[in-house]
Amino acid sequence: MIEVDRLSRRFGSFRAVDDVSFAVGTGEIVGLLGPNGAGKTTTMRMLTTYLTPTSGRAVLAGHDVLDEPLEVRRKLGYLPESVPLYPEMRVREFLRFRARLKDVPRSSLRRAISEVVTRCRLEEVENRIIGQLSRGYRQRVGLAGALLHDPPILILDEPTSGLDPIQILEVRSLIRELGARHTILLSTHILPEVEAVCNRVIIIARGRIAVDGRLEDLRRESSIVVEAKGPADAIAPALQTVAGVDRVAVEGQDGPFVALRVQARDGRDLREAVGQKLVSNGWPLRRLDLSRSTLEEQFIQAVNREALADARQEAS
Ligand SMILES: Nc1ncnc2c1ncn2[C@@H]1O[C@H](COP(=O)(O)OP(=O)(O)OP(=O)(O)O)[C@@H](O)[C@H]1O
Ligand SMILES: [Mg+2]
Repeated sequence: MIEVDRLSRRFGSFRAVDDVSFAVGTGEIVGLLGPNGAGKTTTMRMLTTYLTPTSGRAVLAGHDVLDEPLEVRRKLGYLPESVPLYPEMRVREFLRFRARLKDVPRSSLRRAISEVVTRCRLEEVENRIIGQLSRGYRQRVGLAGALLHDPPILILDEPTSGLDPIQILEVRSLIRELGARHTILLSTHILPEVEAVCNRVIIIARGRIAVDGRLEDLRRESSIVVEAKGPADAIAPALQTVAGVDRVAVEGQDGPFVALRVQARDGRDLREAVGQKLVSNGWPLRRLDLSRSTLEEQFIQAVNREALADARQEAS
C-alpha cells in the first residue's frame, strides 16, 4: 500500500532523510519510531506530498507522490505534527469545511460527518468551539478530519503527543480500531506506544532506517557481545561471514581490544561459532556474552549505532 524506495531529503548539505526504503502492506499498522530529529516528520511530509524528495520514490496506493500528488492525497488521511485546526469554528462546522475541501460529494456529506463523529467519539462536543476543547478532543477532531473521505491509508504524526495518560489510552485504542479498516503509518518516539498499537516497527535514526521488523520477531532477537584483541576492520568482516550472523557492529575500543555486537538471525545462540572464528584467526578473546535484548535496548543500540556511523564519516 505504501512503497518507499531510496527516499532522501536534504536541507542544504544536511541529510534529514537518507536513502530510506520500506514497504507497508495493506492492513498493517506500522510505527515509525525514532528520537527527536530522526527524520520522521520529514519522511511523512514527503509521503503526503507536502515536501518534495531530493531523490528516491514513494508510491501510495499505486500513485507516485511526484507524478500524481492529487491522487495520493485522495487515498490518504494525514494527521500532521501540529494539527492546523480553526480555533474559532465549531467541530461540526470544521468537519463540514474539511469535507468540502476534500471533495466529499454533497449528497454524502451529512453521513460522512456523522460517521467520523461516531468513530472518533465526538458526539458530546460536536457543537463546541474547537479553541475551547481539551487537547485530547482537538486531536480527535484532527483525526476525524483525516478520516472524512474514508481513505485507505492513514499517516499519523505523533498522534498522542501532548495528551494525558487517559487520553493516550483512548487515542491508542481508537487507532487500533481504525487499523481494521485502514493501513496505518504512525510516528512516535515512545516505545510503549509502538508495542501497544503496532504490528511492525521501523526504527529511524539520523535519517536512516536502523531496524525494520515485526514486533514478535524483534522481541526474540538476541545478540552476542564480544571483546577481542585485534584490528576492528579485520574482525568485523570476519564475524560477518559466520553462518547465522545478521549484522556486526563495532561498539567501542579499549586499548588493543575491540568491542563488537553480533546480531544473530532468528534468536540463535552463535557464541560457539563466533568464538571459534576469533580463535582460529589468532584474535584473543576477553569477553563473549549472549544478550537477549529488549526492544528498548535495540532502540538505543540502533540510535547509538547510527550516531557512531555519522561520527566516523565526519572524522574520515
Ligand atoms: N525545513 C527545514 N529546514 C531545515 N532543516 C529541517 C527542516 N525540516 C526539518 N529539518 C531538520 O531535519 C531533521 C529531521 O527533522 P524531523 O522533523 O523530520 O524529525 P522528527 O523525527 O520528526 O523529530 P521530532 O521527534 O522532534 O518530531 C532535523 O534535524 C530538523 O532540524
Ligand atoms: Mg516530528
